[in-house]
Amino acid sequence: MPHLPVMLKESLELFKGKSLKTFFDGTLGAGGFARALLTDHPEIDTYYACDRDKSAIAIAKENLKEWSDKVQYIHGNFCDLDRHLDERGVTQVDGFFLTWGCRQCS
Ligand SMILES: C[S@@+](CC[C@H](N)C(=O)[O-])C[C@H]1O[C@@H](n2cnc3c(N)ncnc32)[C@H](O)[C@@H]1O
Repeated sequence: MPHLPVMLKESLELFKGKSLKTFFDGTLGAGGFARALLTDHPEIDTYYACDRDKSAIAIAKENLKEWSDKVQYIHGNFCDLDRHLDERGVTQVDGFFLTWGCRQCS
């Protein structure tokens, strides 16, 4: 069963009406949010897709094949955002997204 991103509708709403050329996604995961945002915002030129887990990036690459010309994958920690963007000559992005969650174990 595919992974369903949480609060997808609400997250997309935040970017409604905004013109996004460059975007940084710090917690790419399987790319569910990325797929939805790239669909909603065809104006995106470059989607920087970061995840510290190589296997998540591999899954996202499959799921985002359609946008392979737009997505730049970054294997690393989003805490190093400045360095990741510096290395790619990027001085600003139009949007930024992180998925943070909490888990209850009982
Ligand atoms: C819940 S998933 C993200 C779901 C994704 N946004 C989607 O729409 O499918 C969380 C992901 O964040 C990644 N992650 C967690 N902390 C991170 C960090 N500090 N830097 C980069 N990736 C991180 C995990 O490896 C995992 O793949």
